[in-house]
Amino acid sequence: MKTDEFESRLAALAERTNGALAGYLRERDNPQAKIYEAMSYSVFAGGKRLRPVLLLESCAVCGGSEEEAMPFACAMEMIHTYSLIHDDLPAMDNDELRRGRPTSHIKFGEATAILAGDALLNKAFEAMASSKSKNALRAMSIIAEASGTEGMIGGQIVDMESEGREIDINALEYIHSLKTGAIIRSSCAAGAVIGGGSEGDIAALCTFAENLGIAFQIRDDILDVTGTEEELGKPIGSDSKQGKNTYVKLVGLDRSRELVSRYSGYAKTALEPFGERAEFLAALTDHLTGRNS
Ligand code: IPE
Ligand code: IPE
Ligand code: MG
Ligand code: MG
Ligand code: MG
Repeated sequence: MKTDEFESRLAALAERTNGALAGYLRERDNPQAKIYEAMSYSVFAGGKRLRPVLLLESCAVCGGSEEEAMPFACAMEMIHTYSLIHDDLPAMDNDELRRGRPTSHIKFGEATAILAGDALLNKAFEAMASSKSKNALRAMSIIAEASGTEGMIGGQIVDMESEGREIDINALEYIHSLKTGAIIRSSCAAGAVIGGGSEGDIAALCTFAENLGIAFQIRDDILDVTGTEEELGKPIGSDSKQGKNTYVKLVGLDRSRELVSRYSGYAKTALEPFGERAEFLAALTDHLTGRNS
């Protein structure tokens, strides 16, 4: 796929997701207006919209409609944004910049930031529960599991408990596959389910996403060392400040870069059964492998 064709499709998917998100988060003229303000502040601060794009494309690859997939795409972005708001809290990574803006707790205070995260998680389930898709319940259950104790939250707790301790590469891969991989995997799985994909299609997209998720988080670890605050919109050096275990800490920069390529390669191999239909997802993998933001 040509670069300009890829970029315009990526921008169009993100744009349509933003339009739909605005529908869920429009400001209310009621006493609880503040919570909508805080939710919108973090959702519309920027963000690559990677998870909605993966969900919409996985649905498309399986022959489904974007209209049916969109509530789930928005739900993924709301869950992801909630995880970022809470991840940045003083009790967790204690970061003051996100998506190029002061973090939610810096802008609104900790209590409102906690509630904004909670509210985004609830709004995500409200959005999905209003779907008329015959596969909605299965997709919701995939997303619920991936966001919880066996997924993102599970990864966050193991990540926190490993701070300042020596762990091996297998333990680190476990953390990455849960804290970041699970949400990415469930975006693809839920998209495929809504799109009416076969069990084989769903499994292939899960394999794709598992490998992409690990590559993506290793790249995130690398950028915490080599990136710039301007491009990333979040602080550099947060991991070492917190005593985090990262790929860079465990195996160094060069080996981490090799591993990003290796896992991206596995991700693209998993797309082969889809042929040309998965060209965009393959191009997205390359785009993320080389990302600086
Ligand atoms: C940041 O995710 C948190 C990780 C899982 C590494 P993104 O890099 O996708 O952040 P946004 O959505 O673009 O802000
Ligand atoms: C966070 O991982 C993954 C989440 C569940 C939010 P990081 O702590 O590495 O994410 P950043 O670097 O703050 O975006
Ligand atoms: Mg963290
Ligand atoms: Mg963090
Ligand atoms: Mg990070």
